[in-house]
Amino acid sequence: MNVLVIGSGGREHALCWKLSQNPTVDQILAVPGNGGTSEVARNIPLKDDDIEGLVALAKAEKVGLVVVGPEAPLVKGIADACAHAGIPCFGPDAFAAQLEGSKAFAKTIMREAGVATAAFEVFDDADAAKSYIKNHGAPLVVKADGLAAGKGVVVAKTVDEALEAIDDMMVKRSFGAAGAKVVVEDALTGEEASFLAFCDGENFALLPSAQDHKAAHEGDTGPNTGGMGAYSPAPVLPQEQYAATAELCIRPILRRLAELGHPFKGVLYAGLMFTENGPLVLEYNVRFGDPECQPLLMRLDADLLEILFACAEGRLTPDMVRVRPETALCVVIAAPGYPGAYPKGMEISGLAEADALPGVKVFQAGTAAKDDKTFTSGGRVLGVTALGLTLAEAKARAYEAVAKVHFEGCYFRRDIGDKGIARSK
Ligand code: AMP
Ligand code: GLY
Repeated sequence: MNVLVIGSGGREHALCWKLSQNPTVDQILAVPGNGGTSEVARNIPLKDDDIEGLVALAKAEKVGLVVVGPEAPLVKGIADACAHAGIPCFGPDAFAAQLEGSKAFAKTIMREAGVATAAFEVFDDADAAKSYIKNHGAPLVVKADGLAAGKGVVVAKTVDEALEAIDDMMVKRSFGAAGAKVVVEDALTGEEASFLAFCDGENFALLPSAQDHKAAHEGDTGPNTGGMGAYSPAPVLPQEQYAATAELCIRPILRRLAELGHPFKGVLYAGLMFTENGPLVLEYNVRFGDPECQPLLMRLDADLLEILFACAEGRLTPDMVRVRPETALCVVIAAPGYPGAYPKGMEISGLAEADALPGVKVFQAGTAAKDDKTFTSGGRVLGVTALGLTLAEAKARAYEAVAKVHFEGCYFRRDIGDKGIARSK
């Protein structure tokens, strides 16, 4: 069978790598893919949100399953287009994808489904938002409604910062149409973790907890990025609490979306904050996280193709998702300057040496392969991932591998996993 994987990040390399382990897979097509996917898949230079082009390709190549990595094609309706063409697709329809594509939609569904989340109001008028902010007082969080590449959230410590965020989003339209509406919500404090579940519309199968590192610099300082590292499990959400946590944040959403006639098929990702009053949902994503996907798939001790098919066809059972007991940790190596402007085209050395270490896999993200060499082509370049019996061991192995890899100006955080290690002590 041929499988089409949409996307070009470390997440998609991990998906292609894991899918390629199934012996019934003839060919994986990665659109557009990267240097890493080209090792196990055929890269095809189409845009990841060219819905018509993707469906035409899937038909022409007799693709048996479309696997969607990023959110943009889901929000644009790739799953609806596949359904129309009769091609099984792993990922929710455009209506359900609004859980990620619209913060106002997500908050409203959470309210309707009874999911614990920060108190909020939605505004499509800047003056109304400002008077609410002045009455409420800081701290507050201002969120652009639409997709803004992770940059549309401002945690405002003062009223002035919150008012400035409203001007930026609603008046200056710094994020374009994404800022036509905003959500203003109470600021929460606590440790964050990610909790992901495979879903078939009605049933779900849980993945173990994970923790991302969104800030660019050590100690969670500096600008927000797509994620500078991740590990699983996250001690802040231990296994004993998975089932109860799923009742809080996974099952109610599946039930509500099914009631609305849009059963959710794909990965439902709950971004949780563990406050003094228990876990609250900060956000939903409708796909695997990147880089959370890399450690999660390193731990998956089951056939990924079988799971994704079961989701697409509505016959998922929890026992299909088995995970190794070890911890996995992923360190992202970025180009100098990321998440701001950064150079491209630097040659990467040491990939084979790092990959050869026991329990290590180097997932490539912003890379391109040319003449047996690998060059950087993006901001997040590599996700060096390792398994260990403990989090400390996984961390030590991952950084041993990181030390073997080099390109000019390469940057990485040295403290991935430290919060979890401190908590496990
Ligand atoms: P979101 O895209 O909604 O997950 O927001 C991105 C990041 O902003 C989260 O990972 C949190 O670190 C932070 N954040 C979002 N909402 C809140 C909130 N209500 N209180 C405090 N921090 C928040
Ligand atoms: N790593 C966070 C995300 O993928 O949204």
